[in-house]
Amino acid sequence: MRLNSPILTAILTLALPCFAISPYDIESYAPKDVIRRDVAVIGGGASGTYVSIELRDLNKSIVVIERSSQLGGNTRTYLDPKTGVPINYALQIYHDDAITRNFFARLNTSVATTSFNLSTSPVYADFSTEKLLPNYTVPLIGDEYLRELHKYPYLEDGINLPQPIPADLLLTTPDYIKKFNLQDSAPAIFDTPAIPGNLLETLMLYMFNSLNTLFLDEEAGAAINNADGDNSELYRNALAELGTDVLLNSTVVSANRTGNVKLVVKTPTGNKLVIAKQLVVAMPPVLGNMNALDLNPRERGILSQLSGKPYYSGVVQNTGLPDDHVYKNRATGTAFHVPTLPGGILLNPTRAPGLFYYWFSSETRLSQAEVEGAMRDSIKKLQKLVSSATTAEPEFVAFSDHYPFHLSVSSKSIRNGFYDAMYALQGYRNTWYISSLFVIGSSQLWNNTAAMLPRIAATL
Ligand SMILES: Cc1cc2nc3c(=O)[nH]c(=O)nc-3n(C[C@H](O)[C@H](O)[C@H](O)COP(=O)(O)OP(=O)(O)OC[C@H]3O[C@@H](n4cnc5c(N)ncnc54)[C@H](O)[C@@H]3O)c2cc1C
Ligand SMILES: *[C@@H]1O[C@H](CO)[C@@H](O)[C@H](O)[C@H]1NC(C)=O
Ligand SMILES: *[C@@H]1O[C@H](CO)[C@@H](O)[C@H](O)[C@H]1NC(C)=O
Ligand SMILES: *[C@@H]1O[C@H](CO)[C@@H](O)[C@H](O)[C@H]1NC(C)=O
Ligand SMILES: *[C@@H]1O[C@H](CO)[C@@H](O)[C@H](O)[C@H]1NC(C)=O
Ligand SMILES: *[C@@H]1O[C@H](CO)[C@@H](O)[C@H](O)[C@H]1NC(C)=O
Ligand SMILES: *[C@@H]1O[C@H](CO)[C@@H](O)[C@H](O)[C@H]1NC(C)=O
Ligand SMILES: *[C@@H]1O[C@H](CO)[C@@H](O)[C@H](O)[C@H]1NC(C)=O
Repeated sequence: MRLNSPILTAILTLALPCFAISPYDIESYAPKDVIRRDVAVIGGGASGTYVSIELRDLNKSIVVIERSSQLGGNTRTYLDPKTGVPINYALQIYHDDAITRNFFARLNTSVATTSFNLSTSPVYADFSTEKLLPNYTVPLIGDEYLRELHKYPYLEDGINLPQPIPADLLLTTPDYIKKFNLQDSAPAIFDTPAIPGNLLETLMLYMFNSLNTLFLDEEAGAAINNADGDNSELYRNALAELGTDVLLNSTVVSANRTGNVKLVVKTPTGNKLVIAKQLVVAMPPVLGNMNALDLNPRERGILSQLSGKPYYSGVVQNTGLPDDHVYKNRATGTAFHVPTLPGGILLNPTRAPGLFYYWFSSETRLSQAEVEGAMRDSIKKLQKLVSSATTAEPEFVAFSDHYPFHLSVSSKSIRNGFYDAMYALQGYRNTWYISSLFVIGSSQLWNNTAAMLPRIAATL
């Protein structure tokens, strides 16, 4: 029997994409563009860099796929050309513990003890209404907060919830404060640095997970950072160590995770095919990042519940503001004086005279121009409040967009077992999740990752 030509055409059209031009077929690539490794790591921030070095030291081969032009993620350093002073304008300090010190030592990077107390006396002002809060103070966190925190040890090193999940953890922070009379600690609770979004809606579960014993320990002085003040040195040294196993300016465009992990990676020198036994996701695993990764319905159902928030940081000079103060945004007309969003959170002096770093929070995503415009307006208002003679025009010299920051899910998702389901995904379809899903600080991320390494290594 003779096939008529329309049917033949249809068969060929359907068959061709699968066979002749499959992007997962090594025949489609020059040999130098096929990268076979034990583990592919997507994202070269704190957790991705750590797992890559550790796997190398276990004699496992790796490749890191990093979207930006450097390693380090939320570690951002601006080098002031005038003074040569490095200014860390996002991540500031690490917890002083063995895992952190060992990682620095492994990368030949010296550490020094440091503290949050470097910043001098705070000025509390409403960044949007030109008003000072002259009598506002932030006393140290009280024992009543510690008493509550210690009820939930399973939030210290992850989000390992018991059944039933205590309903109090799903209260908003203000409701929890009222219910358990934490008013005296409220200013310190809301002073917790770098919690994005509307603090009045932050679930207490996430507050305890951030403002945990380790973080309080850091605030009390158990803190280290890079000895010469340049927190990016660790990541430059890591890049030198990992060499061509790091693909910078690169993203995954499509994947096949049936059997071996096969990733089509777009790089500045063309597409590469990465074939790996295991995949480590060290970028925020929100759908926007995960869509290229051949998710199945179970994975999509879990990961689609996650979202992160906008957060921005930057460096500004010529502010006309005295640099013996840190300026903190406290609204005059909100509950607990939480800052009105979008708005700057703090404006902090640095070791370089006249230069400040700032953090900025918003519920919606903004452009760099919008963030800098809003910060400029706030600085002009602060000028009138604290140095009325000045007409200085702020100059913005560095900027970073940290979206999607602080991954979270709704209280409904938490009640429906999101965290158990997320933990159960570890290792499923040869894929591991190590970015800040369960803990926030770098030292804790490294510690969590270290605990998972034997499980990953056992599959190789
Ligand atoms: C302003 C600010 C201050 C902070 N201060 C501190 C502090 O003082 N101490 C502390 O311990 N922690 C601090 N943190 C928390 C910090 O986020 C974590 O400690 C840590 O950086 C998170 O590491 P990570 O590996 O999860 O993610 P990140 O460090 O964010 O790394 C993720 C990496 O993945 C890359 N990536 C993202 N999407 C893709 C994609 N689609 N494809 C490929 N690559 C991708 C990113 O470019 C990035 O390099 C701060 C965070 C912010 C925003
Ligand atoms: C890795 O390989 C080196 C050189 O072969 C060897 O000395 C070392 O013990 C190995 N390390 C591990 C963890 O297997
Ligand atoms: C990555 O891109 C930046 C520009 O965004 C460029 O300066 C840098 O050289 C690139 N690096 C690599 C390794 O391609
Ligand atoms: C470690 O750093 C020191 C000082 O910066 C340098 O002299 C030395 O060569 C470095 N060693 C390695 C192995 O990179
Ligand atoms: C601040 O406190 C002082 C004295 O305690 C008081 O006189 C003043 O009115 C207060 N200012 C404001 C704005 O509440
Ligand atoms: C920081 O300040 C607080 C309160 O003033 C104090 O208890 C703590 O010991 C200080 N830490 C360091 C390292 O100086
Ligand atoms: C994905 O990989 C599996 C195993 O190699 C293969 O059977 C399947 O056809 C691939 N799917 C696609 C769309 O390439
Ligand atoms: C590190 O993780 C272990 C569990 O693996 C935990 O017991 C310990 O408290 C953690 N330490 C730090 C400093 O986070």
